[in-house]
Amino acid sequence: MEFFIDTAITDEIKQASELGLVDGVTTNPSLIAKSGRDFKEVITEITGIVDGPISAEVIALDAEGMVSEGRELAKIHPNIVIKVPMTEEGLKATRIFSGEGIKTNVTLIFSPLQALLAAKAGATYVSPFVGRLDDISQEGMDGVDQIRTIFDNFGYTTKIIVASIRTPMHVLNAALIGADICTIPFSVIKQLAKHPLTDIGIEKFLADWEKTK
Ligand code: E4P
Repeated sequence: MEFFIDTAITDEIKQASELGLVDGVTTNPSLIAKSGRDFKEVITEITGIVDGPISAEVIALDAEGMVSEGRELAKIHPNIVIKVPMTEEGLKATRIFSGEGIKTNVTLIFSPLQALLAAKAGATYVSPFVGRLDDISQEGMDGVDQIRTIFDNFGYTTKIIVASIRTPMHVLNAALIGADICTIPFSVIKQLAKHPLTDIGIEKFLADWEKTK
């Protein structure tokens, strides 16, 4: 399973990369705003840190605007993936990008049928948001399971990026379902390596080692 990091904060990307855990990066307008930096400048810097897919999201709501923004972003680096919202206009733009060989990540997916439509439009990636569904008392991971089944039923090569991850359990369940990728906030990446019994075990080994002296 691939891990992407869901952030536009380059220091977090560098730290997670040193752990060998970053196969790609996803950003969105909120994450760019949180970084407090210029959009293109930060995306360009990320391309120098991670050699993998880097999602940069368009702001336009109409297909023509999305395509024009996306073409500009795609010029930054061959690893750039254009993130488009899951709307009818987004589907039109996805189809055009697909014809031009520009990779896409169709985002804000909340139902398996939306994912099917995106795959049919030629999306490289789909991003089902699990945490935001959990937030409204719907089991977000059920949709991921259904998307996996649909893509396997028909041989779609569109990759599933499980997004809106809040906890290590989301990562575990996405891996069990066979989702291709999880895009994970830095705070959750840090949690993944932790286990209290590991810490207790190290303490005990060191205490026993002291006794040998
Ligand atoms: C996905 O690409 C999005 O950037 C992200 O996962 C959204 O997560 P949130 O629901 O925590 O904002």
